[in-house]
Amino acid sequence: MIVCRSPKRTLSVLLTFFVSTLFAQRSQIITIESQHNVIALQVGNDLRVSTAYFGTKLKDTSEYRFVRPMYKRGDDYSGILNSAYTPAGSRNLVEPAIEVTHANGNTSLDLHFVSSAVEKTDANVSVTTILLRDSAYALEVSLFFKVYYKEDVVEQWAVIKNKEKGNVTLQKFASANLYLTADQYWLKQFHGDWAKEMQPEETRLTAGIKVLDSKLGTRSHLYQPPTFMVSLDKPATEDEGKVLLGQLEWSGNFKVDLEVDPLNNLRLIAGINPFASEYALKPNQQFETPAFVFTFSDKGTGEASRNLHRWARNYKLYDGKGSRMTLLNNWEATFFNFDEPILAGLLKDTKKLGVDLFLLDDGWFGNNYPRNNDRAGLGDWQENVKKLPHGVGFLVKEAQNNGVKFGIWVEPEMVNPKSDLYVKHPEWVIKQPNREEHLYRNQLVLDLSNPKVQDFVFGILDNLFTKNPDLAFIKWDCNAVIYNAYSSFLEKQSHLYVDYVKGLYKVLDRVRAKYPTVEMMLCSGGGGRVDYGALKYFNEFWLSDNTDPLERIFIQYEYSYFYPAISHSNHVTDWGKQPLKYRTDVAMMGKLGFDIVVSKLSPKDLEFAQKAVKTYDTIKNIVWHGDLYRLADPRENSYASLMYVNESKDSAVMFNYITSNRYGNGSLSPIRLKGLDAGKKYKVREINIYEEPRVGKRPNNSYSGDYLMTVGYNPGVSANRMSVVLQIEEAR
Ligand code: DGJ
Repeated sequence: MIVCRSPKRTLSVLLTFFVSTLFAQRSQIITIESQHNVIALQVGNDLRVSTAYFGTKLKDTSEYRFVRPMYKRGDDYSGILNSAYTPAGSRNLVEPAIEVTHANGNTSLDLHFVSSAVEKTDANVSVTTILLRDSAYALEVSLFFKVYYKEDVVEQWAVIKNKEKGNVTLQKFASANLYLTADQYWLKQFHGDWAKEMQPEETRLTAGIKVLDSKLGTRSHLYQPPTFMVSLDKPATEDEGKVLLGQLEWSGNFKVDLEVDPLNNLRLIAGINPFASEYALKPNQQFETPAFVFTFSDKGTGEASRNLHRWARNYKLYDGKGSRMTLLNNWEATFFNFDEPILAGLLKDTKKLGVDLFLLDDGWFGNNYPRNNDRAGLGDWQENVKKLPHGVGFLVKEAQNNGVKFGIWVEPEMVNPKSDLYVKHPEWVIKQPNREEHLYRNQLVLDLSNPKVQDFVFGILDNLFTKNPDLAFIKWDCNAVIYNAYSSFLEKQSHLYVDYVKGLYKVLDRVRAKYPTVEMMLCSGGGGRVDYGALKYFNEFWLSDNTDPLERIFIQYEYSYFYPAISHSNHVTDWGKQPLKYRTDVAMMGKLGFDIVVSKLSPKDLEFAQKAVKTYDTIKNIVWHGDLYRLADPRENSYASLMYVNESKDSAVMFNYITSNRYGNGSLSPIRLKGLDAGKKYKVREINIYEEPRVGKRPNNSYSGDYLMTVGYNPGVSANRMSVVLQIEEAR
């Protein structure tokens, strides 16, 4: 993969300046520092680079020079177990970060320090680069550490350059190779499946290697996201303990190796999954890995996730500091069964509800193979003339006539065998030439490693926008995994998994370059593909098809460790048996949407929903841009509670939900609030009330931040008051 710098990037590089460059010097410490943390790398006497220290900064930063490589029974382990980027095939016998076959077939690699440089982009962001070179072969590796100082976040990646005369093959090419020291290591991973995303599991890491990985290709995070936490010494809690939150920013196959080594240190190697993916580099070609992003806190998961949220909003999530549209989606309301009159009615309902946009879901396209169910039509992106005789354009205009915006669903990476596209371009489909097709949701994946397919996929969006410039929102779905991985375009089949994702990103780059203001939702049959590699292009993501509010609280709670609320698309649907108020309160803790039949709401429910949309407008900026404090974990209590606080700490909103209906459950004692200003006085007011007078409504007292954070406030959630939303405003 050749890395081309875009003109924009070149300009930004010109604007940056080198603060320092260090050349091969033995026995030196290179520190990579953020506000509270440091990675201290040691260049040994033998010029191998190892991690001397990782974690909270020492008070006296000059003391890193005392940190020495480790010895055990006379053996020098330095640069082996704690190598900053462990090469395979020489003296390292542990899990490697990089494994290559040189042009002459030799499989050894031994990397030595050449130089390091720090490039400062602005007061907050800097990139440290460490250049390593093999002692016998013309192969170079540059390690990049991009530090977001205030947020305590680091993105780490590698660029591997073939300067040999022939082809080099990369067998493993990790993004990061960290080395952590503690008495114990506790891994919190998240497994799942359709409608069961983000099921947490925390276990102690024992000697040996624990692997988190995916081999699904697309929808790659269905069973396991590339997202995890590692606590040092003991499991971190919300407010205590040392914890690393990490993720590979990659929407394809990934692999994270967590190896407790013979010295009881933790070797953490994260990168693209090398499974079936060896990658050939021609002379002078280089391979840039995706970034592994992580943050570390010695004050628990709360601070760590707030840091990650700030980083995401400021630097990664598409338009993270911007605004979002509330919407009415028709998936659950109609599934595939709609036509123009039904949609015209739904557009009126959108206005009636008071949300900003109507989102037309799956089923609007395909003529020879109409998309009336999920068995046909995918790939044929022309409006179905029976359902939409006047096209999408008519609906966009109709939306405008109703004073709302219009958005549309696409699943551009996929094809049903029952489609014109499949008949016309069988060579664009990923499938083994000599094997029976194996379908997932009756569909196959298009080969995005092929530039012609990239053009086709870009063209789907481009056509929609060219014909309908006022289209305001895209829901981009991806419902299948890659079976029978084979590309009739690629010479080297082992490039498919990697080039697929690169192809996808190329398309998304083009979409964003041409349509920067369109809001886009990332969806993959629920949350089957959620990572910051993709969220660079998307404003929000669909967490799960499971919208039963009780289930959803748990799913939203776990996602909240890694993604800010502004990115969570939460819809009120008819899943679950809970009242509309509860369903709405749950959806409000992220970006609110609806997927209900508005015309079937009772007058009272309709009135409540309309008021709720208006209430949401008054709190959305705190939810979207404020700091999140988790107050009560539903896995440890019979209720869940969390709050968002704005930057100036004069406004906050607290969400409380009962999660178990057993007699006597509920918040019997006050819940301690967090993140307020102890010295300020606050008014606590219940909002989003279904019907006045609210049973058990409290007087409007004022409390100091000190009181609310020390004694707490009892929201009084119970079987009768299943959810309570409180607005906390500075009393002036
Ligand atoms: C899966 C998504 O998660 C749903 O929200 C819906 O868009 C369907 N696909 C449509 O086929």
